[in-house]
Amino acid sequence: GVVIKNICFIGAGYVGVPTAAVIALKNPFLRVTVIDRDEFRIRRWNSAHVPISEPGLDDIVRLTRDGSKACSVEAVKSSLAQRIGARSSKISIPARQPNLTFATASSKSMAEADMIFICVNTPTKVTGIGAGYATDMTAVESVVKEVAVNAKTGAILVEKSTVPCRTAKLVQDILDTYRPRARFQVLSNPEFLSEGTAVKNLLHPDRVIIGSSNTIPGRRAAAALAKIYSTWVDRSKILGTHVWSSELAKLVANAMLAQRISSINSISAICEGTGADVHEVAKSIGLDPRIGPQFLKAGLGFGGSCFRKDIGSLVYLARSLGLHEVGDYWNQVLLINDLQRKRFARKVISRLNGTLIRKKITLLGFAFKKDTGDTRESVAIDIIRVLLEERPAEVAIFDPCCSVAGIQSELENLGGHDALNVYADPYQACLDADAILVVTDWDNFRMASTPDHTNIKRPQSPTDLTSSTSTIVADRADGFLNLSKDQYLPEPPCPSNCPECAYSFPSFNTEEHLEWARISYHMKKPKLVFDGRGILNATEMEKLGIRVEALGKAESGFTLF
Ligand code: NAD
Ligand code: UDX
Repeated sequence: GVVIKNICFIGAGYVGVPTAAVIALKNPFLRVTVIDRDEFRIRRWNSAHVPISEPGLDDIVRLTRDGSKACSVEAVKSSLAQRIGARSSKISIPARQPNLTFATASSKSMAEADMIFICVNTPTKVTGIGAGYATDMTAVESVVKEVAVNAKTGAILVEKSTVPCRTAKLVQDILDTYRPRARFQVLSNPEFLSEGTAVKNLLHPDRVIIGSSNTIPGRRAAAALAKIYSTWVDRSKILGTHVWSSELAKLVANAMLAQRISSINSISAICEGTGADVHEVAKSIGLDPRIGPQFLKAGLGFGGSCFRKDIGSLVYLARSLGLHEVGDYWNQVLLINDLQRKRFARKVISRLNGTLIRKKITLLGFAFKKDTGDTRESVAIDIIRVLLEERPAEVAIFDPCCSVAGIQSELENLGGHDALNVYADPYQACLDADAILVVTDWDNFRMASTPDHTNIKRPQSPTDLTSSTSTIVADRADGFLNLSKDQYLPEPPCPSNCPECAYSFPSFNTEEHLEWARISYHMKKPKLVFDGRGILNATEMEKLGIRVEALGKAESGFTLF
């Protein structure tokens, strides 16, 4: 068989580094190098603070990069167990010398490698033929040319980046052009990790797909890659396929997942019109094992760097094969996703009486989903774009993980705007807001499980209410009275005892839940919160005087359009 001692990863991003680090962790005798042309990024990977926020990744990078003398295996194990789940306490981590390196000097690392993983970005073309749909292959092409010139003959090239079907042919053609007499095998090994759970997904993958050519050298190369994975992945989960199937499977996996999200979101619009509750519908259908409960969470739809571009790539592929109905079918998944954001923004504007002039709107969350600081294809940008057209006094933004500078640089795509402010503290972001929009499903945006309104003095009996208030709506099982929001008289004191409510803002602890009572106190009436991710309990929020509007529910008798 083929002997692999040195591996090179090209592209030190969200996929390249976690994959390289886990392979290094599980194969202490392999030397793994990650190279990138971005010097700044490499410097940060070599620093004490890794540039990507991904639970458990910093532990693994430290251990593999600095070795078990610098970093205890036991400490890494217990940290992983805590951060990515108990199953990981059972994982075996061999002691080691350092075996992971980050570098920019690329030709030497390529020349030494027995196997080279291409992990560069494959974004959507923004101009020219196929703009908005086709894959921009610039980075892949330039890396393959470098590999052709520098790699040792017989090296195995692995497509880890998500690429259009039949890219392996393009790669082989470039190799043949630049190194006509050398022999290289090209494999496809798509990555299925999700951001925020990358380490967990890599340590416990559902499957590993290895596509190769159906020749003896092709199958040998596939076996060499399978051997590396088999140090921690059960053989039954490693699936060998033809290279075209493997390339296409990645696009289809993402398309099918995104299709479920658009399907349930299309139903959320129907729910708003009929009074059905989309979360109840999702639960009801998800109990059918043929449908299953996952990826049926209705809300603002999918963001992130993958779904949009991969479906675009599939649509382009179908259309270039002359299959226009097939292309249109998958394109509809994108159209429904765009519609959901627009519907949400329009709902906000309409509930604020059709005008945002002199109003402050706060967005809680900027990352495309919880547990990541990644702002690529953030849903927030599209919402902000619609809001700004209404000339609000301020659009305030807070995210517990994205850096203020990172958000600001994304906002520059909107052409810069005086009304946009990014905050490092959620309470300051929400201060005097006319409406709050929950854009990301961060756990700490949920109400704490012990409701944080318990210390608020609320009227407990009709005599506690001033004479001007109207009738009491209903008795509640918890002994409190269910009062409509204008019955909360007088306003409860600020639960946080700000010195005379002078708004002294301690920095927000990301381990804690938001104190919605405090936010409520400092909001403008009628205290509207738009829950774009279905994470708030409207009944509990109502007790704080907050009115929650959610996608997929026709609550408070409100119907869209
Ligand atoms: P990324 O932008 O985080 O990382 C790509 C890196 O490649 C960057 O650091 C860039 O500087 C580097 N690069 C680009 N051209 C280069 C060159 N010529 N030489 C050296 N380095 C170069 O991207 P990512 O999110 O890691 O995605 C990489 C690939 O993996 C994409 O094809 C993507 O579709 C796929 N993928 C991503 C995810 C995900 O969750 N992010 C999941 C599965 C698959
Ligand atoms: C996705 C795929 O899940 C992963 O397998 C692939 O390798 C890369 O693309 P990722 O984009 O990191 O991963 O995140 P994912 O958890 O899939 O969520 C994508 C988007 O869909 C997020 O914006 C999320 O909020 C949204 N989503 C997800 C929903 O709106 N509803 C759901 O039920 C699930």
